[in-house]
Amino acid sequence: MVHKVQAVVVRQKNAPATVETILVPDPGPGEALVDIITCGVCHTDLHYQQGGINDDFPFLLGHEATGVVSAVGPDVTSVAPGDRVILNWRAVCGECRACRRGQGQYCFNTHNATQKMTLEDGTVLSPALGIGAFAEKTLVAAGQCTKVDPAADPAAVGLLGCGIMAGIGAAMNTGNVRQGDSVAVIGCGGVGIAAIAGAKLAGATTIIAVDIDSRKTALATGLGATHTINSKDEDPVEAIRALTGGNGADVVIDAVGRPETYRQAFYARDLAGTVVLVGVPTPEMTLELPLLDVFGRGGALKSSWYGDCLPSRDFPMLVSHYLNGALDLDAFVTERISLEQVQEAFQKMHEGTVLRSVVEL
Ligand SMILES: NC(=O)c1ccc[n+]([C@@H]2O[C@H](COP(=O)([O-])OP(=O)(O)OC[C@H]3O[C@@H](n4cnc5c(N)ncnc54)[C@H](O)[C@@H]3O)[C@@H](O)[C@H]2O)c1
Ligand SMILES: [Zn+2]
Ligand SMILES: [Zn+2]
Repeated sequence: MVHKVQAVVVRQKNAPATVETILVPDPGPGEALVDIITCGVCHTDLHYQQGGINDDFPFLLGHEATGVVSAVGPDVTSVAPGDRVILNWRAVCGECRACRRGQGQYCFNTHNATQKMTLEDGTVLSPALGIGAFAEKTLVAAGQCTKVDPAADPAAVGLLGCGIMAGIGAAMNTGNVRQGDSVAVIGCGGVGIAAIAGAKLAGATTIIAVDIDSRKTALATGLGATHTINSKDEDPVEAIRALTGGNGADVVIDAVGRPETYRQAFYARDLAGTVVLVGVPTPEMTLELPLLDVFGRGGALKSSWYGDCLPSRDFPMLVSHYLNGALDLDAFVTERISLEQVQEAFQKMHEGTVLRSVVEL
């Protein structure tokens, strides 16, 4: 059976995100059909709309989602109809060279649904990050469904499906933040503030929030930032050094992903410190750094895809922290909107007035 549902589609580069009828097949082998409950609006959806990820238009947007499994393929045992799940974009294959070394967080062959979702005229859709959850129903690989406690507010924990996990994991997994560390985070959108929350969970004692918008750094204070810097008003490198005994931070996380923010991160870290790039650059960006500084400052320059998370390990753990009160995911949900308001939500993201707009279906 094919399901006709409403979903948010972008037909071509910079075209508006509009609600359209799409066709979603029943699950085949290895697949699960999911009734979406909530889906957050992530900056990566906007990157897709602007052609910053690839040119495989039309896109079916949305990928930070919670849902209920409504049907599974004949061979699927990991989830069953009725399960409350968070969708993920790291369904590990178990067979590639990373998986064989026990490092599924670097899996080179993650699974998505095999069958395609289409527009009514049969045009094949490219689901954002292999998910496509600004939709009443979506089709994913069963491994993209991580079962979680249904007691949690779906709008809040669904954000673990992408940006919030990316931020928390950039600090806890990629940055390997330790008790007593100093951490600076450049860019305090949903991802950056999640990195701040992750640094706090990991035990960092100095947590510096940097943004060009003071409304964002003010929000960061509520999630664990001990100091804030408006990098429009002052040099963030000097300011971070001043707050860390003149040395720079142990870990600096770039949650913007631009050459100038990366350069700030590079020079604002202590000798032998770690830079983590979690913001996503666009194809035309290039970076120039004195090679002698790369050598002489030592340490680690790392990138963080999806916070180096393993959904099956990290989602239930973070949902527990949320339910126990140690991780305030509610603070990330600025507004609850309908499918029709996604384009408007991009505008609000641009204006800096939201951390996360969450679509409720
Ligand atoms: N690596 C991953 O796995 C992953 C996952 C999700 C999102 N992302 C990326 O992370 C980035 C942030 O996403 P988001 O949803 O938080 O976006 P957002 O638009 O909500 O937040 C971006 C923040 O950066 C600030 N900013 C912009 N330019 C700045 C500058 N020059 N200096 C300091 N601050 C600046 C903005 O004021 C804003 O607060 C995006 O590039 C997104 O694509 C990466
Ligand atoms: Zn693999
Ligand atoms: Zn995302």
